[in-house]
Amino acid sequence: MKKTEVGILGATGMVGQILIMLLGNHPWFEIKALSASPRSAGKRYKDAVHWLQAASIPEAVADLPIYQSGEPLPAQMLFSALDASVAGEIEMLYAQNGSVVISNARNHRMRPDVPLLMPMVNPDHLSVAQKQPYSGKIVTNPNCSTAGLVTALQPLQKNFGLRSVHVVTMQALSGAGYPGLSSLDIADNLIPYISGEEEKIEEETKKILGDFDGKNIESANIEVSAQCNRVNVLDGHTESVLVSFQKEIHREEIIRAWQDYRSKPQILLLPSTPKRPIIWHTEAEYPQPRLHRMVEKGMAVHVGRLRQHDTHTFSFTLLLHNTILGAAGTAIHNAELYISQKGKK
Ligand SMILES: NC(=O)c1ccc[n+]([C@@H]2O[C@H](COP(=O)([O-])OP(=O)(O)OC[C@H]3O[C@@H](n4cnc5c(N)ncnc54)[C@H](OP(=O)(O)O)[C@@H]3O)[C@@H](O)[C@H]2O)c1
Repeated sequence: MKKTEVGILGATGMVGQILIMLLGNHPWFEIKALSASPRSAGKRYKDAVHWLQAASIPEAVADLPIYQSGEPLPAQMLFSALDASVAGEIEMLYAQNGSVVISNARNHRMRPDVPLLMPMVNPDHLSVAQKQPYSGKIVTNPNCSTAGLVTALQPLQKNFGLRSVHVVTMQALSGAGYPGLSSLDIADNLIPYISGEEEKIEEETKKILGDFDGKNIESANIEVSAQCNRVNVLDGHTESVLVSFQKEIHREEIIRAWQDYRSKPQILLLPSTPKRPIIWHTEAEYPQPRLHRMVEKGMAVHVGRLRQHDTHTFSFTLLLHNTILGAAGTAIHNAELYISQKGKK
């Protein structure tokens, strides 16, 4: 199979770097173009980037020139890891000029004609993109905390019906991009506020878990509330979740729903699909970011500490890798789903 030539917008940032690492060896995609801000444009990638990954910059991209985001790029499909202050207009420009833009940014996520997509959760929502009034397409993935939350919730919503969800997040430093917080603000500390994050989790969760009738997505009728904290962990968001169901549920039914959960990417054999999308931990002190974030190459959600409070209410803890499942990994998974569905109704 001939590889699809792709570009990365915002290639120098935190998510851009993970995209480069994950796409470097991808069986379907080949990196052909990189873009960033006017500060980086015109330089070679290795001279512009503040590289933060343990492995060195893949040879095939180290000397690629950086284009200014918005310029025409020699690529068929674009991954966007642009800062939200510029992503809206630039992604729209590329889509209007015929590119498929797979975006990590928040700007277009809540538009009714834009899929807010996770292949393991709501793959059918992809076809709402057909309503977009230009030759290209914009496909988005959710905010990092939402990505883990909806993966753990989807089997519960499907099997039992959710009434309400309350989540308290403990979010890693890499979620704030580079350079993120000053060490003097976060060392020996916790910040109990992340601008805009609570609203994003509350809105996006309902859209992703919503029903799609072939034309429109109707947001799920679930009460969702969130409280977000930044913690001194490099990668891996942990979330404490309280869920209330529409009917009486037994603890074992929840565990079985998580363990048995499979969805379209398993059938389509998309390359980024984890063997176990949701991993249930029985140990009382698991999951933990340092121990579990890289299991299944960062594409799984870990759940544990499931406790019953009354016949309809349970709490549990979840963990995800925020820059892989919560950003670059799901963007690539979305691109794989897009390609596998191209030409199908
Ligand atoms: N980090 C996460 O865990 C995460 C998770 C989900 C979604 N996201 C979203 O993904 C996007 C990227 O996040 P990040 O954490 O990678 O951010 P980041 O580290 O701050 O990187 C931002 C990127 O945008 C580029 N950029 C900044 N200003 C620009 C401008 N005026 N014109 C063109 N390009 C510009 C930067 O290029 P220069 O290097 O040249 O400045 C850099 O490549 C954001 O929209 C973020 O909300 C992040």
